[in-house]
Amino acid sequence: MLIQAILVERFRQAMQKLGVENAPVPVSKSTRPEFGEYQFNGAMALAKQLKKKPRDIAQDILAQAQLDDVAKLCEIAGPGFINIYLSQSWIGKQVDAMAQDARLGIDKAPSQKVVIDYSSPNLAKEMHVGHLRSTIIGDAMAKVLEFLGHDVVRQNHMGDWGTQFGMLLAHLSDQLDGKSVASTALSDLEDFYRAAKVRFDNEDGFADRAREYVVKLQSGDAECLALWEQFIDVSISHSEEVYEKLNVSLSRTDVMGESKYNPDLPVLVKDLLARKIAVIDQGATLVFLPELADKEGNPAVYIIQKSGGGFLYSTTDLAAIRYRCHTLAADRTMIFTDARQALHFKQTELVARKAGYMNEAHHYQHCPFGMMLGKDGKPFKTRSGETIKLADLLDEAVERATALLKQRNADEVVEADVAKTIGIGAVKYADLSKNRTTDYIFDWDTMLSFEGNTSPYLQYAYTRIRSIFRKADIAMDKHHANVVIDNASEQALAVKLLQFEDTLQAVAQEATPHLLCAYLYELASVFMKFYEASPILKDGVSDDVKQSRLTLAAMSAKTLKLGLEMLGIDTLEKM
Ligand code: ARG
Repeated sequence: MLIQAILVERFRQAMQKLGVENAPVPVSKSTRPEFGEYQFNGAMALAKQLKKKPRDIAQDILAQAQLDDVAKLCEIAGPGFINIYLSQSWIGKQVDAMAQDARLGIDKAPSQKVVIDYSSPNLAKEMHVGHLRSTIIGDAMAKVLEFLGHDVVRQNHMGDWGTQFGMLLAHLSDQLDGKSVASTALSDLEDFYRAAKVRFDNEDGFADRAREYVVKLQSGDAECLALWEQFIDVSISHSEEVYEKLNVSLSRTDVMGESKYNPDLPVLVKDLLARKIAVIDQGATLVFLPELADKEGNPAVYIIQKSGGGFLYSTTDLAAIRYRCHTLAADRTMIFTDARQALHFKQTELVARKAGYMNEAHHYQHCPFGMMLGKDGKPFKTRSGETIKLADLLDEAVERATALLKQRNADEVVEADVAKTIGIGAVKYADLSKNRTTDYIFDWDTMLSFEGNTSPYLQYAYTRIRSIFRKADIAMDKHHANVVIDNASEQALAVKLLQFEDTLQAVAQEATPHLLCAYLYELASVFMKFYEASPILKDGVSDDVKQSRLTLAAMSAKTLKLGLEMLGIDTLEKM
């Protein structure tokens, strides 16, 4: 149910009747229940055009707007706001329709093909905390868009190529000569990388051998490629373990590493040169971007091939655009990396549009995110200042959840999968609930709290509803009865339930999963208030009322479960 869209459409028509075309139609949720559920704030902006007082304009708009079915009352307030009080019978009808539908009344949108580039770690090293945000925000977006009916193509643009592999392969080759198995030698990628680097910096002749490996790798030497493949294979399986732990839906078939674009890179550079989009300057091939000139008017420089012949991160991203727009026929691309890469993607988009690798209709969206900070406000690191492996962080989350559950309930054994669901859910939710673009402070204590906007709180709210149904001995999933809205707490809950689709659409548009988190938190809070004010199983509650309230409760649970599922967080029957 898209309440907002319905109201916008009605007000748009009313404005049209007053001769206003193409003006914004600002309808928003009211900030306080005394002002009704929604507000229209468009009258003030029309005063000049219509040469009337905003309050009179609001009056005229109301006279034209067809709101009888939706609203029981519309009130003009202050300088010319229109407060909209929704009709109880309309709400009841909508909620009924929603309750009878497995998709909670949410339509599938006209489908777009959406490429989502996320996680994309560099395979030379292990995944560290810096990859958490890209991985889980991207995955939440994939799930939301899929639920809304879009055709999502996941692209794990792994960094599997580059000069650092020379050093790693030279070291690996020595280890394998010593009869070590690749998976054993690479069981800890961080250690392996460090050992290779020490040799590179200190051991006579090793750096030269490393460089030879780079040349061999680039020239397609079969033995060297086989070694590289072993390395990549083991490294990907490390990432897969992390995805498994994180309940993230990436698999091997989604891997489209940088190396896959290698054959296209020389072709692409030749094309850009032939069409005079790129030029050769001091041996390097580059594109000048006057659109992004500095203060002195010097255009930005976007290099696509170094003077030595080497290709760059940028060349690969241009090739990725060609592949995604043409071979995959995507309508929209979303790329999740930290904010420091914003300029790179801005430039890449400019070049790709100049070259026509992407047409005007294509929606290219770099979705940057802020950093994870420690409690001291500095980038999140171990005490000794090292980057934290993602796998270790997740293990710690499960350990902490186990301790927490033991503390809450000393005589019960903590089941491993319960601790995992709560611990991993807490880490993911703490991240997803923050505005994507800002930095945030990673704090174990707040994320594992059962109070506030946390995943344990939402998981707990869900189990409370399950327990109501257990007590009543009614199967929740199939429960449905006629919903009658009779008091304020029922109405507040019903309206909140109806706002789920509006929320998902907003999340889909701007890649803002925190809006879904905020919504679920509000829903759980409104449910708790409803449950206090509107008893369900108490004596004296008539059967009709009981059934209607049970339906609202079941819908709340289903919405919580579905919403958390899209964030990649599981719910529990009991806690
Ligand atoms: N591998 C890169 C990194 O770890 C992220 C790649 C993002 N995707 C892209 N198409 N450039 O920073």
